[in-house]
Amino acid sequence: MLNIAVLVSGGGTNLQALIDAQQQEKIPGGKLALVLSSKPDAYALKRAEQAGIPTLVLSRKSFHEQKAYDEALVEALEQAKIDLVVLAGFMTIIGDSVIDRFRNRILNVHPSLIPSFCGEGFYGLRVHEAALARGVKVTGATVHFVNEICDGGPIVLQKPVAVQEGDTPEILQHRVMEEAEWEILPKAVALFCQGRLEVINGIVHCREE
Ligand code: GAR
Repeated sequence: MLNIAVLVSGGGTNLQALIDAQQQEKIPGGKLALVLSSKPDAYALKRAEQAGIPTLVLSRKSFHEQKAYDEALVEALEQAKIDLVVLAGFMTIIGDSVIDRFRNRILNVHPSLIPSFCGEGFYGLRVHEAALARGVKVTGATVHFVNEICDGGPIVLQKPVAVQEGDTPEILQHRVMEEAEWEILPKAVALFCQGRLEVINGIVHCREE
């Protein structure tokens, strides 16, 4: 059984999708073992508590420098014997040492079809504002492994979502979550826990069952 940590900063709807998937036994081989928040008041913490998952708050502000934050993060993950880290709306930078320690074992969900609308400055609602400003007719979500390049790691799963006339960033954000993120994040986690994902030369290959 692989131990999964979910890193959050906000509402935690993606965390909820993982909790629901676990309760429906859709993540065989994996167990939500820790929810770590960068914010003490994140609603995601309540969701974790309700589901009986241990929680921890690690606020970047409590640390003078990135290195100390990264060390505390790795220590917390190691103490909980974490095998897979899932960034689900985690809005704090994690340093290269953490990425290296968990190489191809950190998944992130991003609310666009990478390589569109991604990289530095593209997070949360801003991604959908940019998509609407550009007038794209299709957007979506991506789950990828995290490497040293912001939103540049190997792509695991993507799902397109149609943009509709009259969409606001908020409406589009919700549709992308509902139609794409909440589906592909638990799916990617399940594939990982079943040992079906392999990264070769920066490309993710998914083995048949
Ligand atoms: C999600 O839409 C997620 O894709 C996005 O933040 C939201 C978190 O919502 N992440 C990023 O933009 C990362 N670049 P949630 O807390 O309800 O899961």
